[in-house]
Amino acid sequence: MPAVVLIGAQWGDEGKGKITDYLAQRADVVVRYQGGNNAGHTVVVGDQEFKLHLIPSGILYPGTTCVIGNGVVIDPKVLVKELDYLKSKNINTDSLRISERAHLIMPYHIRLDELEEERKGINKIGTTRKGIGPAYMDKAARVGIRVIDLLDKDEFSEKLKRNLQSKNNLLERVYEVKGFDFQEIYSEYLGYAEKIKHLVADTSVIIHDALDEGKNVLFEGAQGTLLDLDHGTFPYVTSSHPVAGAACIGAGVGPTDISKVIGVVKAYTTRVGEGPFPTELTGEMGDLIRNIGHEYGTTTGRPRRCGWLDCVILRYAARVSGLDSIAITKLDVLDQVEKIKICVGYKYNGQELRNFPSSLKVLAQCEPIYEEMDGWLEDTTHIRSYDELPENAKKYIERITRLIGVKSAIIAVGPKREQTIVIDTIFES
Ligand code: IMP
Repeated sequence: MPAVVLIGAQWGDEGKGKITDYLAQRADVVVRYQGGNNAGHTVVVGDQEFKLHLIPSGILYPGTTCVIGNGVVIDPKVLVKELDYLKSKNINTDSLRISERAHLIMPYHIRLDELEEERKGINKIGTTRKGIGPAYMDKAARVGIRVIDLLDKDEFSEKLKRNLQSKNNLLERVYEVKGFDFQEIYSEYLGYAEKIKHLVADTSVIIHDALDEGKNVLFEGAQGTLLDLDHGTFPYVTSSHPVAGAACIGAGVGPTDISKVIGVVKAYTTRVGEGPFPTELTGEMGDLIRNIGHEYGTTTGRPRRCGWLDCVILRYAARVSGLDSIAITKLDVLDQVEKIKICVGYKYNGQELRNFPSSLKVLAQCEPIYEEMDGWLEDTTHIRSYDELPENAKKYIERITRLIGVKSAIIAVGPKREQTIVIDTIFES
């Protein structure tokens, strides 16, 4: 029953797509369990690059069942576009299954996301403006529309009418903008329903059957630990739970079904959107990392804020997700850096903090305590085994694993499938 959860251990964009793609070779089922098209995965296969937002990257392997679980919020327009994009690249999408229970992102969610960000001004969250927050708000308020509703014209019509009544009220009276037309959304969404209905299923059953048959199941987290609604840097977070525990809720399995949890750790730290970032590098070094690491959002194109690796964050991620091992990505981005810093602790008010603080005010005033290490100043992109890595690169990896108390299982030294060093096998066969 090898069920592996893969999560982002930082602020997202850790390179989960590449690791998921690597592990998906041996997975029979790959499951997305939270978030929506705020996520963006870039997967390089041979000389082809695939950019996915909603569909699990396992879709690139013929025969792998891919699941969009109940915990995901789905913009059907994006889903249909992504299906067409994959078909145009000759990728068969028949093995995709979409949960009946997943909630839909509606046009008014996207509009409300934009309007709220504008209203907040300098206090904005810096969302991807894809309607994620408002869609999860409707789910929690128990007025959201689910995929199962979309397949029933009467149910969809009734729920859409009810939602539009309150949403148009809000848009017109509070935000003083134009509301939405029922007929337009109704026919547009029924068009999407036609295109996806053959893929809709009770996906929890599919996952359970696979686990019962001893198949390999990979749960692919989106975003990262510090963007978690409960455990992240609230309010600068997303509206779902990128931590490992969410795989159970968002896919419909129990905690006893999970056998391993892997945290994806980028060899340095990045963040998009607003909020404190203790190890942020605003000068030349930040620019160097951004340029070498191509640190621009897959979804929004925004330049990512870059900084040194922060082990306070990683220890925290290891704790809240119960990490068994880590996959370190983009090690090669540091190939040209002479002196590399690792944040080993935070100083606040003259005292060393043991744990990642809950208060953003405190976090904003934390001063990173750094250890400096010599860089390796060698090209690592062609290396395929741990032993061949430069000594200083090995020292860097070993220091990280010691600081966070979790072993490393995979090291990535480039975006291609083959640029992967495996230390510990995740799926046996
Ligand atoms: P939302 O998820 O669009 O509501 O955005 C909330 C916060 O999460 C913002 O700071 C976004 O930049 C961030 N965010 C959402 N998705 C991702 C992602 O896939 N990678 C990195 N940051 C993300």
